[in-house]
Amino acid sequence: MRYGYFDESMREYVIERPDTPVSWINYLGFKDYCGIISNNAGGYSFHKDSVRNRLLRMRFNSIPMDRPGRYLYIKDRESEDYWSISWQPVGKELKEYRNECRHGLGYSKFSSQYAGIQAKFVNFVPVDDPCEIWDVEIRNESGKKRELSLFSYAEFCFWKVDQEFNLQYVLYTARPSYEDGIIGYHTFFSPIDQRHAYMFMTETPLAFDTNRESFIGPYRSESNPVAVEKGCTNSLKSGWNPCAAFQWDFVLEPGEVRKVSLVLGIGPAASEGKKIREKYRNPEKVKAAFNVLNDFWKNRFSVFQCKTPDSNLDNMTNTWNPYQCNVSFHWSRFASFIEVGGREGLGFRDSSQDMMSVIHQAPEESKVRLVELLEGQYKSGAAVHTISPTLRIGEERQPEKETLCSDDHLWLILAVAAYVFETGDKDFLLSEVRYLDGGKGTVYEHLKMAARFTLDNKGRHGLALSLAADWNDCIELGRKEGESVWTSIFLFKALGELALLAEVLGREDEKMSFLKLQETERKIVEENCWDGKWYIRGFRNGKDVVGSEKNPACKIYLEPQSWIPLSGLNTSERAKECMDNVYKYLFTEYGIHLLYPSDTKESPFPPGMKENGAIFCHPNPWAIISECVLGRGDRAFEYYTALCPSTWNDKIEVREAEPYVYCQSIIGREHEDFGKARHPWGTGTGTWAYIAATQYILGIRPVKDGLQVDPCIPQQWDGYSVRRKFRNAWYEIVIRNPEHVCKGVMVLKMNGREQEGNVIPPQKEGTENKIEVILGNQK
Ligand code: GLC
Repeated sequence: MRYGYFDESMREYVIERPDTPVSWINYLGFKDYCGIISNNAGGYSFHKDSVRNRLLRMRFNSIPMDRPGRYLYIKDRESEDYWSISWQPVGKELKEYRNECRHGLGYSKFSSQYAGIQAKFVNFVPVDDPCEIWDVEIRNESGKKRELSLFSYAEFCFWKVDQEFNLQYVLYTARPSYEDGIIGYHTFFSPIDQRHAYMFMTETPLAFDTNRESFIGPYRSESNPVAVEKGCTNSLKSGWNPCAAFQWDFVLEPGEVRKVSLVLGIGPAASEGKKIREKYRNPEKVKAAFNVLNDFWKNRFSVFQCKTPDSNLDNMTNTWNPYQCNVSFHWSRFASFIEVGGREGLGFRDSSQDMMSVIHQAPEESKVRLVELLEGQYKSGAAVHTISPTLRIGEERQPEKETLCSDDHLWLILAVAAYVFETGDKDFLLSEVRYLDGGKGTVYEHLKMAARFTLDNKGRHGLALSLAADWNDCIELGRKEGESVWTSIFLFKALGELALLAEVLGREDEKMSFLKLQETERKIVEENCWDGKWYIRGFRNGKDVVGSEKNPACKIYLEPQSWIPLSGLNTSERAKECMDNVYKYLFTEYGIHLLYPSDTKESPFPPGMKENGAIFCHPNPWAIISECVLGRGDRAFEYYTALCPSTWNDKIEVREAEPYVYCQSIIGREHEDFGKARHPWGTGTGTWAYIAATQYILGIRPVKDGLQVDPCIPQQWDGYSVRRKFRNAWYEIVIRNPEHVCKGVMVLKMNGREQEGNVIPPQKEGTENKIEVILGNQK
């Protein structure tokens, strides 16, 4: 069963049936204003900070889950019938009412056809203004004159989302206004802390409401507001639940089209509202803002485009996967229908990973994010778990070691290395950044301290202490003495990256000492962690083995196996064996489980859910990368296809979640809802799926000395092409696979000239370069 399809030329996902199993959402705004919108126009918004500056309301865990939203109702004044341009909230019978929703890059378009009236609206956030535009067009296709009303409805919330439940306060604070056609919403917290928003329409409204109860009416809902039935009443009461609603009456001759825009924005109605109205009352300006938005995404994604024999991979890699990466990069884990506002901070490890997939599109923004993260590091090398984009933290003492995660700080090393390899900006390594608890050091020093912190915090077997957790937030290995095998493998990888960065800076001695330390880590892992068929997960309290065949539950975990080849710690027989056992014990048609069998005694999650044996998606691409490192392109691609959301487009009744976005987890086989994907958008899966596809399957990888071409593809592919921008030069890369191998660059020509090796040295800025590659076994 399918509910929609990918319109690749428009870069839109088209939802033809609005009654999707769960809400399929999109994001509006990638600077300061963020709006979340479902395929039924439900959803909320905030300005900069999802905890302290919320604007449109989200009703937590309600039914339907996406209420309220950005609602536009059309009423036929003659028949008194009414409907909404999005299918919900009125929810007309789908036999007579037709609806389409197109989620695009930074916008969503809705159109409905009912009773001879075609209506559309596009919802988007202009690139440079903190507001959202609802651009409406209504066409009379009925062949007779029609008397219609348009009602708009937006429900405000109380700004500070963690107070939303405190109704004895919240219900007595709103100060709505209506002046010169603009609705204002003002809340006074103190003379220096006041919040303002506004909404207007570009036509003159007949009436308005600023009070939710007046618009909706008692014992009603957004599906049947009293105001739509009887007309808005110009309600303007202080306190209660504020909203912005307009009524606009108009007449449409047969074939006639009317357009109107509504704008909802942040700032005082009398100043900002008026200014923005001056701008957008001209429909050409609305159109221009929409075009700027489209160009923004087009330019951003032009730096990597591919054409392969696999339409899923093309579609995801050229559009939807990098789009999800950008959403995660900007809004981290604080805005979705699951992460509804309990936190506004950037998760340290999450953000370090998120930025790794957008560096080629946005090097400057990535650098800013890196500095923000580096400033969240203590002098000891450890890092905070969350940083806030709006509240700058002052000097903070490092908390008890046991409350820190064992991995947060180490991600910095991978993130900075990725930035330097992509941009060639080695000066960044020598720029100074402050530590959270005072003093400063160069970026390179920060990274050395990150490694040092883990090197200094080892357990009984010489493995990294697991502390509060490692990548797996829910793993309980013991805060004082627990040891994490995964963190140890991660340290091995991080030391390797540090050696490369030392080389970039020409520090040979340091490079050698990092490589030496790396060898020690390799030995520690190999001597202590091989269980016979795979690597164990850790030592609980430094004693009990976790992730062993001998254990009754959680015998095998994905994280350590998937990092063994990825990190280069072992790429020979053991590596193949542990990855074969991942295939055997953890892989299913929907992806790779995090562990097997699930725990039935200690986990807060039932078997098959979340970190207790779901197909936790984030580490799945690590396994893809590892298979590529091992040269097993067919298996890598089997994993890629299973996880890829678009694979399931036509069988979406199982997956349920959006077919254009990766989820945090898919319910595991030990649960009756096996295959249902949950928690879309904010997940490291996006970033790693993108890195796996672009850098490992397609094999176009930024490295220290240039752009490496190292594909690992399904044998049956004849070839593919990639257009890539790298350090400000362009590369048109055509890869042929005449011998039908998975891996192995036989010939690489640049601009007609054959080259040694498979690393393209950076070419002059602005140049266009033709790269021809032939894969094969031998030269
Ligand atoms: C969530 C967290 C992430 C963590 C993962 C595994 O996705 O955001 O930080 O690594 O769960 O526990």
